[in-house]
Amino acid sequence: MRTPVMAGNWKMFKTAAQTRSYFEAFRPLVASTKGREIVICPPYLCVPAAVESAQGTSIEIGGQNVHWAAEGAYTGEVSAPMLLDAGCRWVIIGHSERRQYFHETDEWVRKRTEAALEAGLKPIVCVGETLAEREEGRTVEVLERQFQGGLHGLKPEGFAHVVVAYEPVWAIGTGRTATPEMAEDAHQAIRTLAQLHYGEAAAQALRILYGGSVKPDNAAALMAKSDIDGVLVGGASLDAKGFATIVNA
Ligand code: 13P
Repeated sequence: MRTPVMAGNWKMFKTAAQTRSYFEAFRPLVASTKGREIVICPPYLCVPAAVESAQGTSIEIGGQNVHWAAEGAYTGEVSAPMLLDAGCRWVIIGHSERRQYFHETDEWVRKRTEAALEAGLKPIVCVGETLAEREEGRTVEVLERQFQGGLHGLKPEGFAHVVVAYEPVWAIGTGRTATPEMAEDAHQAIRTLAQLHYGEAAAQALRILYGGSVKPDNAAALMAKSDIDGVLVGGASLDAKGFATIVNA
């Protein structure tokens, strides 16, 4: 059985004070949630407030990106050991906004993933096609390229800690969610890739999250699909009540 991961990606939203009041509202709403891992990825500057607010709960905190070096002259960057030290257990890698606006490459995704695993962080590695790629019928080809480039050649014991998030770019922040069937098809394609690269057992154990306009009213239908092992939620994770509804969907 794969334990679902219900993750929120706050992107560049919220201050430390807003983080604390969010957790005050959120904690009681998920206090009795069982059988699901709950992860919140705030901006770096809100990590300390989030870690402190999540103490004594099962909620875990993640970063939204990570550099591949442990330390060095890389102005503006944050390393995996630093995230771990701050109390993070997870980190999002290769988000499409990073690929689109910051020229993230598959090669960097792999380097970041290796660094995260090395430090003991659980990477949530994002993949997904653009609208043009989907319309050209190239979804699986894009997923293959991103998997091969970003997730090939990890140590099997490292891959066991990787979570993949399928986030079709056209569904992010658009209100246009993939249907559960479209998501399920893509998730099956990703599981097949995991099987080809890491074998059947690793593929069956891999958690694959769906992300892209997940809302309180569509989360249950997505979660009902057998290959959807959780969600990565942007906008709707900013509201404590709404995200709790998703977590419990
Ligand atoms: P939205 O839920 O706002 O569409 O964002 C999805 C996302 O990018 C999560 O990483």
